[in-house]
Amino acid sequence: MSPTSTTSSATSSSSGSNSTTSSWLMQGPLAGAAIAASAGAYAVISALRSARFRSQVIGIIPARFASSRFQGKPLVPILGKPMIQRTWERAKLATTLNKLVVATDDERIAEICQGFGADVIMTSESCQNGTERCNEALQYLRKKFDIVVNIQGDEPLLEPEIIDGVVKALQASPDAVFSTAVTSLKPEDASDPNRVKCVMDAHGYAIYFSRGLIPYNKSGSVNPQYPYLLHLGIQSYDAQFLKIYPELPPTPLQLEEDLEQLKVLENGYKMKVIKVDHDAHGVDTPEDVNKIESLMRERNLS
Ligand SMILES: *[C@@H]1O[C@H](CO)[C@@H](O)[C@H](O)[C@H]1NC(C)=O
Ligand SMILES: *[C@@H]1O[C@H](CO)[C@@H](O)[C@H](O)[C@H]1NC(C)=O
Repeated sequence: MSPTSTTSSATSSSSGSNSTTSSWLMQGPLAGAAIAASAGAYAVISALRSARFRSQVIGIIPARFASSRFQGKPLVPILGKPMIQRTWERAKLATTLNKLVVATDDERIAEICQGFGADVIMTSESCQNGTERCNEALQYLRKKFDIVVNIQGDEPLLEPEIIDGVVKALQASPDAVFSTAVTSLKPEDASDPNRVKCVMDAHGYAIYFSRGLIPYNKSGSVNPQYPYLLHLGIQSYDAQFLKIYPELPPTPLQLEEDLEQLKVLENGYKMKVIKVDHDAHGVDTPEDVNKIESLMRERNLS
């Protein structure tokens, strides 16, 4: 494919035709190669920037009851309110979301969420992960959305500004199909494989994610001066990309690290990353609940 055809397909997608947009997305890796190879790269990127603005945004909180590590996690009370309600209340404050839903396969979760006023979409039990659940939920909605934010239900202290940040970053980068957030890595988490590290380029696009410490200092030890980055669990996707994302076959780096987002990069798609100030307090185990409750008491949050 020549850079010229990339330009024309990107331009015609500004007509708002979904099929054109998706064919452009399918060609993402090729278009990326054309951009890199082309002297007219800037023209191509400008054409992409003038593509239709992705204005319609839905936030989806995927929630399942069964969990190997923590049964019934979304409903665990945190200072008296179910964790999923806290996440939902936070997400409601985001200004970029046109709609917010909970996607679940569980009647108990659905009932409680409807009780506090959330829109709920029932998804099948066969969804293997949150991404798939978001994708399925999207298909049940009659209205078309351009961007889907996958809001994990286990970060009850997530700031709404971070949701808005990843949405705006994706909207401002038409050549990206995915956006996510990072924050400073605490030195004590440097060698924890459950804390995923990220490196990005000078324009804020992800280069790589790893469970190991990246970059690796030549001396073999942690460099106390280096601003290492911790990946946060929030991500937003181009809605057309989300349709093909679960179907993209697993890639070698993804399988080796067990990090789904590597599949995006290995297929040549661009991912925008924003850096935020955020003290991550994810709830992975029942013990984490006590920690987060004492922190909330300390900070006078209720
Ligand atoms: C590695 O880390 C040290 C500090 O621990 C720093 O002085 C040095 O510049 C870093 N990079 C290399 C290549 O050693
Ligand atoms: C979610 O499931 C789909 C297919 O079932 C797979 O392609 C994707 O990599 C999975 N993601 C995670 C985080 O396991």
